[in-house]
Amino acid sequence: MALKIFFCALILKLASSASDQFTYNGFKGVNLSLDGLAGITSDGLLRLTNYTMHGMGHAFYSVPLRFKRSQVDNVASFSTTFVFVISPEHPMLGSAGFTFVLSPSKDLTHSLSNYFLGLVNMTNNGNASNHILAVEFDTWYSPEAKDINSNHVGIDINSYISNQSAPAGFTSDDNGKFESLILLSGEPMQAWIEYDGINMQLNVTIAPLWTPKPKVPLLSSTINLSNIILDHMYVGFTAAEGTSYSYHYILGWSFKMDVRAPELNLSSLPPLPKTSTSFEKNQKILSLWLPLVLSVLGLIIAAGATTVLVVRKKKFSELHDDWELEFESNRFHYEQLYKATRGFKDEYLLGVGGFGKVYRGVLPASKMEVAVKRVSHESKQGLREFVAEIVSLGKLRHRNLVQLLGYCRRKGELLLVYEYMPNGSLDGFLFSNGEKLLDWSMRYQIIKGVASGLQYLHEGWDTVVIHRDIKASNVLLDSDMNGRLGDFGLARLYDHGAAPQTTNVIGTLGFLAPELARVCKVTTSSDVFAFGAFLLEVVCGRRAIEPNKQEMEQVLVDWVFVNWKMGTIYETKDLLLGEDYVLEELDLVLKLGLLCSHPLPSARPSMRQVTQTLNGDSPLPPLTELNSCIISPVSVLIGK
Ligand SMILES: *[C@@H]1O[C@H](CO)[C@@H](O)[C@H](O)[C@H]1NC(C)=O
Ligand SMILES: *[C@@H]1O[C@H](CO)[C@@H](O)[C@H](O)[C@H]1NC(C)=O
Ligand SMILES: *[C@@H]1O[C@H](CO)[C@@H](O)[C@H](O)[C@H]1NC(C)=O
Ligand SMILES: *[C@@H]1O[C@H](CO)[C@@H](O)[C@H](O)[C@H]1NC(C)=O
Ligand SMILES: *[C@@H]1O[C@H](CO)[C@@H](O)[C@H](O)[C@H]1NC(C)=O
Ligand SMILES: *[C@@H]1O[C@H](CO)[C@@H](O)[C@H](O)[C@H]1NC(C)=O
Ligand SMILES: *[C@@H]1O[C@H](CO)[C@@H](O)[C@H](O)[C@H]1NC(C)=O
Ligand SMILES: *[C@@H]1O[C@H](CO)[C@@H](O)[C@H](O)[C@H]1NC(C)=O
Repeated sequence: MALKIFFCALILKLASSASDQFTYNGFKGVNLSLDGLAGITSDGLLRLTNYTMHGMGHAFYSVPLRFKRSQVDNVASFSTTFVFVISPEHPMLGSAGFTFVLSPSKDLTHSLSNYFLGLVNMTNNGNASNHILAVEFDTWYSPEAKDINSNHVGIDINSYISNQSAPAGFTSDDNGKFESLILLSGEPMQAWIEYDGINMQLNVTIAPLWTPKPKVPLLSSTINLSNIILDHMYVGFTAAEGTSYSYHYILGWSFKMDVRAPELNLSSLPPLPKTSTSFEKNQKILSLWLPLVLSVLGLIIAAGATTVLVVRKKKFSELHDDWELEFESNRFHYEQLYKATRGFKDEYLLGVGGFGKVYRGVLPASKMEVAVKRVSHESKQGLREFVAEIVSLGKLRHRNLVQLLGYCRRKGELLLVYEYMPNGSLDGFLFSNGEKLLDWSMRYQIIKGVASGLQYLHEGWDTVVIHRDIKASNVLLDSDMNGRLGDFGLARLYDHGAAPQTTNVIGTLGFLAPELARVCKVTTSSDVFAFGAFLLEVVCGRRAIEPNKQEMEQVLVDWVFVNWKMGTIYETKDLLLGEDYVLEELDLVLKLGLLCSHPLPSARPSMRQVTQTLNGDSPLPPLTELNSCIISPVSVLIGK
């Protein structure tokens, strides 16, 4: 009897052999297969990526596990839990994200970074022969990947396009309420991924560290994995960076070929990574050494040093108010920006816009290129709302928006830090008198991009964001010549009465919808009106209003409208285009431009309709509405 029990115990022990389950509370001395940017830090953190643009990293358990046991094809149950931290270089800016992955091979080095997440590449994406199952933790909104937002968790099969996804968060066991989590917060979170082989149910749950596993999973999907999972698979992680970067860390990980993965001992996980920039380190070193230096060198030198410090303090002084504490993580130090732009030297001046001067800079610690906008403001009134709004707008992420990285506040001015756009603004190309050429395919790509960015502002966020100042000079071009909308939300500053030197009109003449003259309420359709004028600018290669032209041609919309009525609409196109254009596309954009510029807001299409039309997903709305315009659009406003 005793012997039998002993044998049973032995068999049980053999059945759940060491490779069937593992628990790592930290990774010191653990033998994982790592490649790319992945590594194990001296503290025992598993690092998947460090700050490297377009980099990626993979980490796999070194031997494959057996997922199909019986003769039948059924996939066994499995479960895993791990603790992760995503620590971005800039608090508002993610990179691509990371995944937990099951793969037949641990060599995924031919996959790509960015939204490919280090999982697949252009050629094998979506191919059933990949046999890849992944759970993605995605911090970047990529329309290509049909992402729902820039902070979500998804189940991916053979592809970077998720089968199912949900905004990051958890349902509280206490009150049943959904609590959002920000993956990029730099705070540790725990994830649980469980597959029930019998009911074929895959559950994914996340929660802040130390919160017990919530009962309701974030994602729950019934999937027959038989055709996806092979007999033997590797388990591990992939992570990828985009044009901005994050550290992706795993602090602890357990796995079991059964339903309940071993619990992690949360109190023995390695300490959290420190995220101080070298700038902060310098400051610490200064404050450590200063007292020592002072006591050694004595009073006279001390006095000198103090003077230097006072001067330095004044030079780099900033304004801080109590209400700003909550935005602290989005702040840059003035000294950082001062160094980045070499003291705001003229050679670093990129341009002077309606809101102030813009400088190019290179951040001292990360060497990241940025654009710094100095906006002067004297009044304190409304500043808090404005900063809150700027910070929340910075959370908007779309590849056709210029990303705001943070701000800094000094006496009389606000400094806004943006991603640097190497190709400058669109008007620099359109109105360069042929010095810089933009062919039709580039123009069409820019138009589609800006439309998609504006649609995101209008519909992609909890609150509708109205740009208020769409025009070619507010469209910037990134290194791939994609059009990106800049300056969104800045027009609000005028509302808050902070820059009183100009008129009350928010926006730019020629782009202002006629109804704004009557009711001073901006709407998404007034943005659409400006977008219409922008479309015409791009096709016709001229500004919305050119007072030096003959009277009939001064207002671009009017001129195109009249030409459309006379059947000569193509004569309005930019002569620099020559014969290089696609007639159908040109026709579509001109007519769309007129429709968007309709004097009646209700007759204008929505940005959703506009993008659908531009992408060929729906036909051009009928132009019958335009026929009824007796008076042409802009003249109403400028009172001709
Ligand atoms: C790590 O594991 C692999 C696969 O089992 C093995 O080949 C290798 O020798 C191990 N390395 C160390 C240092 O133990
Ligand atoms: C990131 O890791 C790679 C490979 O280990 C290394 O070459 C690079 O210098 C690291 N970069 C930073 C910023 O730590
Ligand atoms: C894509 O990935 C597959 C599998 O890793 C690889 O065989 C293929 O060569 C890759 N294709 C390219 C273009 O890199
Ligand atoms: C999927 O991958 C297999 C093997 O690499 C290849 O033979 C096949 O053509 C691919 N299928 C598609 C649709 O690309
Ligand atoms: C979902 O997964 C299946 C494989 O089970 C795949 O064939 C299908 O294309 C996926 N659907 C989406 C929308 O990604
Ligand atoms: C998945 O979640 C559902 C509740 O939504 C639960 O009934 C089921 O048991 C869970 N399955 C696993 C494998 O955890
Ligand atoms: C799952 O898919 C496999 C392969 O297509 C099939 O043989 C099996 O019957 C399916 N299981 C269930 C329960 O539908
Ligand atoms: C968890 O780790 C702590 C610190 O290393 C240790 O004191 C404790 O005994 C561990 N708990 C368990 C259940 O192993």
